[in-house]
Amino acid sequence: MFDKDFSQVDWEKVKQGQLIRQSLGSEWIRLTGLAPGMRVMDIGTGPGVFTRMYAEAVGEMGRVYALEKSPQAMAFLRRELQDLKNVEYVLADAEQGFGEVPKVDVVFITDVLHHVDTPGKIFRNISRVVSEGAKVLVAEYDPTAPGEVGPPLEVRIPLGDLQQMAVAAGFQIVETGTRDHEHYYVVLQR
Ligand SMILES: C[S@@+](CC[C@H](N)C(=O)[O-])C[C@H]1O[C@@H](n2cnc3c(N)ncnc32)[C@H](O)[C@@H]1O
Repeated sequence: MFDKDFSQVDWEKVKQGQLIRQSLGSEWIRLTGLAPGMRVMDIGTGPGVFTRMYAEAVGEMGRVYALEKSPQAMAFLRRELQDLKNVEYVLADAEQGFGEVPKVDVVFITDVLHHVDTPGKIFRNISRVVSEGAKVLVAEYDPTAPGEVGPPLEVRIPLGDLQQMAVAAGFQIVETGTRDHEHYYVVLQR
């Protein structure tokens, strides 16, 4: 059964799922041009496999703002990433806002939006935190894929709906595409 709000979740299992999809993280880093020294926000980190990849890509001079709504996921994340010095932890609901964070160069929000009630609100909040020219990478499970992995097809967000929400929040669509593990991605810019 689909666990929309992660009330029944085993975060170690979620981590194993992220490890299986790790190649997507490298793709997302490439698509955004993430580079040493950049400031990046990862919204809805879960157990942090991708967050670690972003922290390694931006290096000691960069910063990752790791935003998570679930206190349990945040506790797991802090343990997982305790060796990293360039991660700031933000416990917040992305639908409500991000609190006090500086402007960032790249935002990742991957496999989060099909868990929320009002994705449009999150796009509006992202638009307030991005610096000039920043890129936003959104990735989701594709409802036109076979449905052999991932959440049920009926809870997945059609690419067109996601694009409409992003444009309504003032973003331009730079690039879209499909990837392994039944995923699509959209790169946005203000
Ligand atoms: C399926 S996991 C995805 C984790 C990771 N981004 C990935 O690509 O594997 C979704 C995560 O988003 C978090 N989340 C869901 N709604 C959120 C919200 N409104 N604000 C912040 N985090 C949220 C959940 O607690 C969960 O950890």
